[in-house]
Amino acid sequence: MRSPVPDYLEEVLEALREDRDGQVAGYIPELAAADPERLGIAITTALGRTYVAGDADVEFSIQSISKPFAYAAALMDRGAGTVLDAVGVEPSGEAFNELSLEQDTRRPKNPMINAGAITVHSLLVGEAASPAERVERARSFFSRLAGRELRVDEAVCASELDAAHRNLALAHMLRSYGILTGDVPAVVEGYTRQCSILVTVRDLSVMAATLATGGVQPVTGEQVIDPSTARQVMAIMAAAGMYDGAGDWLVRVGIPAKSGVAGGMVGVLPDLVGVGTFSPRLDRQGNSHRGGRLFERLSQDMGMHLFAANGSRLDAARATTAEGTTAVALEGVVQLTAATEMLDLLETSDPATAVLLDLERVHTVTELGRRMLLEGLRRIRLDGRGAALRDPRGVLPEPDLGDGTFPDIVG
Ligand code: DON
Repeated sequence: MRSPVPDYLEEVLEALREDRDGQVAGYIPELAAADPERLGIAITTALGRTYVAGDADVEFSIQSISKPFAYAAALMDRGAGTVLDAVGVEPSGEAFNELSLEQDTRRPKNPMINAGAITVHSLLVGEAASPAERVERARSFFSRLAGRELRVDEAVCASELDAAHRNLALAHMLRSYGILTGDVPAVVEGYTRQCSILVTVRDLSVMAATLATGGVQPVTGEQVIDPSTARQVMAIMAAAGMYDGAGDWLVRVGIPAKSGVAGGMVGVLPDLVGVGTFSPRLDRQGNSHRGGRLFERLSQDMGMHLFAANGSRLDAARATTAEGTTAVALEGVVQLTAATEMLDLLETSDPATAVLLDLERVHTVTELGRRMLLEGLRRIRLDGRGAALRDPRGVLPEPDLGDGTFPDIVG
């Protein structure tokens, strides 16, 4: 059997093939020469399965899509405090190359606009890092996310640097406020080189899927980003990834996303999927026109919307009582809903019975679920009742009840 997923993706591409709205980016000569007909899509699930259609292996420069990933690297290199001191997390409601600074702190409003992204680039590695080290940090980090060695397109970089007046102006302004330190032309050159790293839609989908899993690259299994950083990056993509169109995008499409002027787009839904698209013609806000349409289709057809309530977080627990034991069985992912159902079953169970928690059909216990399961068993023990655990899949390792004691383990 051939999987229907690539067929579906092909069909979505074909439906948009004749849509020629928008224009390729004009302000970087190398990008103006791009083939406007290119069209590609890739999706990678949180379990690392990738599906592609169209120009899936054509390379293009990552441009502004580098911003969320460089932000992740800076957060890990310098800590959230240092990064937040330099760059805010508020949507700017303005174009990507505006000088959007907060009035009191003079910080750029967020890391998705150029002022913020240039500052973020300057923070990479550490205070004493050389320009080359910062670029290499971005290149090697993006490569680990993509699962292959990426390279800089020097022609694109040189082409943009020839007329980087706006970015130089932004950087000089930031330097004058002391937000950015160091050599301004070197920082802008490094940022431009970061934007010139070549990727494919396949790469972008895997990079985004790494955010979706909370930082584990789903193909290599490597923890590349720590979970709190992945969360912060996805949140800022939702708030500001689409610049002055961020609110409309979040309502209509609901996939935290980031676009680049070469025509790439990346999107992510936590726990679910990473998406990469490529089509060089841009709309007036500088986002890929057909890329946006592709995301709209995915959102509608596949229910891929951050705020679509589809029951995926609803799990349950059920209890049976026999021979002096109340057995509470849980299934699937134990998080808020299943854990509170379980606590309710324990609370209302016959106090004359012992309790057995059966996790045979559970595949994941979240940190919250773990705390609630163990605290429930601890309180059962405090009531003088027997507390036992059945965990043949080992989803609740080291079930210390918090007081150094363990529930009875049954097979
Ligand atoms: O800073 C710039 O102008 C570019 N290198 C990147 C801009 C970009 O991709 C804006 N996004 N849509």
